[in-house]
Amino acid sequence: MRSARSRAPSLALLFTALAALTAPAVPVLGQSVEPIRSTGGMVASQQWIASQVGADVLAAGGNAVDAAIATGFALAVTHPTAGNIGGGGFMVIRFPNGQTTAIDFREKAPLAAHPEMWLDENGAYSATMHHRGHLAVGVPGTVAGFDKAHRLYGRADWNDLVDPSVDLAADGFELSEALARSIGGFARRIEYEASKAAFTRNGTAYEPGDTWKQPDLARTLQRIRDARSDGFYRGETARLLAQEMQRGGGIITEEDLDRYEARERSPVTGTYRGYEVISMPPPSSGGVAIISMLNMLEAYDLRAMGHNSPEYIHHLAEAMRRAFRDRAAYLADADFADVPVQKLTSKEHAEWLRRSIDPERASVSHPSDVDSGYESPETTHYSVVDADGMAVSVTYTLESGYGSGIVVPGAGFLLNNEMGDFNAGPGLTNATGLIGTKPNLARPGQRMLSSMSPSILARDGKLFAVVGTPGGRTIINTTLQVILNLIDFDMNVQEAVNAPRIHHQWLPDRISIEEGGATDETVRRLEEMGHRVGVGGTQGSANSIAVDPATGERLGAPDPRSPDAGARGR
Ligand code: DON
Repeated sequence: MRSARSRAPSLALLFTALAALTAPAVPVLGQSVEPIRSTGGMVASQQWIASQVGADVLAAGGNAVDAAIATGFALAVTHPTAGNIGGGGFMVIRFPNGQTTAIDFREKAPLAAHPEMWLDENGAYSATMHHRGHLAVGVPGTVAGFDKAHRLYGRADWNDLVDPSVDLAADGFELSEALARSIGGFARRIEYEASKAAFTRNGTAYEPGDTWKQPDLARTLQRIRDARSDGFYRGETARLLAQEMQRGGGIITEEDLDRYEARERSPVTGTYRGYEVISMPPPSSGGVAIISMLNMLEAYDLRAMGHNSPEYIHHLAEAMRRAFRDRAAYLADADFADVPVQKLTSKEHAEWLRRSIDPERASVSHPSDVDSGYESPETTHYSVVDADGMAVSVTYTLESGYGSGIVVPGAGFLLNNEMGDFNAGPGLTNATGLIGTKPNLARPGQRMLSSMSPSILARDGKLFAVVGTPGGRTIINTTLQVILNLIDFDMNVQEAVNAPRIHHQWLPDRISIEEGGATDETVRRLEEMGHRVGVGGTQGSANSIAVDPATGERLGAPDPRSPDAGARGR
């Protein structure tokens, strides 16, 4: 057993902590606890300029879907670690009449993908090929997703959703300290010429306050503005992308791009203490896991236990352990694998899982045929509510910070490394963290399993909150805790976002607690119960919105863990 307050944060927390060295950590507690109020619409994202772009679309008469699309394109310019057109993600929508839907624009495996594609010539698995370089790139989904969402549910002119981002890329914008430092670090470590060129001024690092222009990206966005998704998946952009794949030994072809399609799906839904929970179905594991954990936790008086008390953290960790074991066993792209969503999100299943929770003792996770691997904490989540009460929750990503690091030459955008979310290869599961279980192996056209959990809460038929976060597997647990903070602890949405969070993902069998999230005494008590505990780092960036039930005001809560986050009302 580790000593109390051992400095052994999970890899996810460790990498977030490393990222925090380039973007100064923001103290979680003692921040302003008042959300930003608006009587109209609201956008909360990880980068305030992008939030402003979305709010401007709302002000011009666009609805929440329009604003979400415009914010998403703007993040691709102003938040390059995760904002993207070369990655993918999910959008969950709740309409003012209470109906819901979801748009799945997760990347897909290229047609030439196969389960053994990351084995080298000697049959040995290569983590480098799996997570870095051209074989790690999935067929991007973001532009198709935004196009589909707009055709189905937008009402603004498409041009008006892309134009602000064309301008931001062409005319440039002023670099904050955090962003200048972040892109400087990326440019120093990246070996691709086009990437260095895009992220430096003729090889010289940008300084805070400099204007950063991205002319190639501006031209790609212009093609998207003029031809919608054809401006990305066909013609010049597709040709440039496929050419870079050929140059670097990747397998995405123009045919892969031509065949990519975003899908509309039915959200997964559950209930928690009278609230309706609406979240993302497979290929995300997030919605299923969150609903399963809420179902398990509903039987306990969490408020009486006290926020982040030993008893509370113990019960959370036990629920997390069980939901993540189910995730490893069952979750994958439901177009390719049989995923028992109904069963996993049922109250009966939760009751069965709960029966094995000992209120005093930690259970033990057994590394059987599944284990966990590193996932980077670079994704981004944003929330939008419009004046009519339409709500949109979006999480999208390049997977790692700056994705694969590959900027498409001449097209100016970064490609994802999302193929790393597929399992390593058949039968490769071992205790060091490789997973080789069948459902989530790479197959042509399959979408890799995700943890992204854009979610919406309603109560008595009325919108209550829009939540979500980046953070690899921690996404699921961060989103869970924002929900618990709102419902069980009556926190306002800013307090709910600010409050320190914990993480357990079954394997490795350890609780990670954010810096400042628990007292030494709490850690000691948890260890007495049999838990391994690490404290440190920050977890997530849960840019959320709630609705004040008394006044109907939109309450925006940017996450103080992200220095450039901002909420903008209109
Ligand atoms: O889809 C997923 O679950 C991961 N690729 C997300 C990666 C992530 O969240 C990184 N950062 N925040």
